Amino acid sequence: MALLGWGCIICVLAAAGTIAEAVQVMVESPMVNGILGRSVLLSTSLNSTPLKSMKWSVKKEDSQTVRILKAENKTQPEITPMFLQRVELLKNGSILLRNLTFSDQGVYTVTVTDWDGREETGTITLTVSAAVVIDSLSASPDSPSMGDNVTLSCRVSGGTQHSISWLKDRAMLPNKTLAHLALPTLAPLHCGLYTCLAQDPFSSDQADYRLTVPGCENPFSASIALVGCGVVLVVIAALGIRRWCKNHLGTCSENPREGEQVDVVQASRSHMPVDLEYAELDFQNRAEQPTPQQHTAPEDLSVIYSQCR
Ligand SMILES: *[C@@H]1O[C@H](CO)[C@@H](O)[C@H](O)[C@H]1NC(C)=O
Ligand SMILES: *[C@@H]1O[C@H](CO)[C@@H](O)[C@H](O)[C@H]1NC(C)=O
Ligand SMILES: *[C@@H]1O[C@H](CO)[C@@H](O)[C@H](O)[C@H]1NC(C)=O
Ligand SMILES: *[C@@H]1O[C@H](CO)[C@@H](O)[C@H](O)[C@H]1NC(C)=O
Ligand SMILES: *[C@@H]1O[C@H](CO)[C@@H](O)[C@H](O)[C@H]1NC(C)=O
Repeated sequence: MALLGWGCIICVLAAAGTIAEAVQVMVESPMVNGILGRSVLLSTSLNSTPLKSMKWSVKKEDSQTVRILKAENKTQPEITPMFLQRVELLKNGSILLRNLTFSDQGVYTVTVTDWDGREETGTITLTVSAAVVIDSLSASPDSPSMGDNVTLSCRVSGGTQHSISWLKDRAMLPNKTLAHLALPTLAPLHCGLYTCLAQDPFSSDQADYRLTVPGCENPFSASIALVGCGVVLVVIAALGIRRWCKNHLGTCSENPREGEQVDVVQASRSHMPVDLEYAELDFQNRAEQPTPQQHTAPEDLSVIYSQCR
């Protein structure tokens, strides 16, 4: 707005031909807030009119105006010793003020003079505030469990009139604007990542708290783990069976070789109806081959014997 205002006034005057080519200095914003300990840009721009000199000064509350720097005829700026390490003059006439303290608050004035001796000024009022900082985000009780009445507490310092908001798993929780977030009777649906977000007009800070208590296991990852376990078990079982077969069956083949005699022992079926739900296979040496008489018991109804040399 201010920039626009300046621009318009100068446009109109220039169009009228009264102060064509006069030096112009425009401030980007007449009110600037800086954060304690950080840097602030007091931003101005100049028109292309050749400058004779440029000065920055500051008037602090209850003190006289102090010169910050003076640049003449495109030479290196002359910086007042007390600002030497903290101030940098940029090409467009702005200054960068580093490592702000509260005592930097004041009204900053930039004055430019052209070769006709015309002078133009711009002013910026700088306020300095402490950044919003979240000192801690904690749960009460310390290590909660399911069913507890849990409170998350966000301790905030600094800032001016900060506001608090809460997010769960990165989604805003509506109407939660207090420093304490109550989670009554903790249930699995409460598990997740909580974020406390503290903001003021000039700064913000955030902190995360992952609420995991016994019973919070993520069902998705649990099922993945289960499937993974299953696959591993199947693979191990398959390998085991292969090994067992190699060790125990040796050269035994599933189908008997041509001409080889296969002894099939068939027990006579008993009269009692037996629900046979599975077949039992038994591999034995010839020497151990049982006689048919041994297998007349009803539970050994149809047992097939294969032999292996
Ligand atoms: C002046 O220059 C600085 C650094 O290049 C830039 O950030 C700032 O916006 C400029 N100011 C204006 C008013 O253009
Ligand atoms: C400004 O610099 C120019 C050369 O860059 C020089 O001729 C002139 O005398 C200087 N003027 C002042 C006032 O220092
Ligand atoms: C910033 O200023 C403070 C107090 O004036 C000082 O203690 C600190 O060393 C300074 N830091 C830097 C990086 O200049
Ligand atoms: C949680 O709070 C409710 C109501 O304030 C209370 O009835 C309940 O006993 C509390 N539960 C625990 C575990 O403190
Ligand atoms: C919560 O916020 C919504 C708007 O986001 C509002 O309509 C509603 O009335 C609020 N509820 C309470 C209890 O404040």
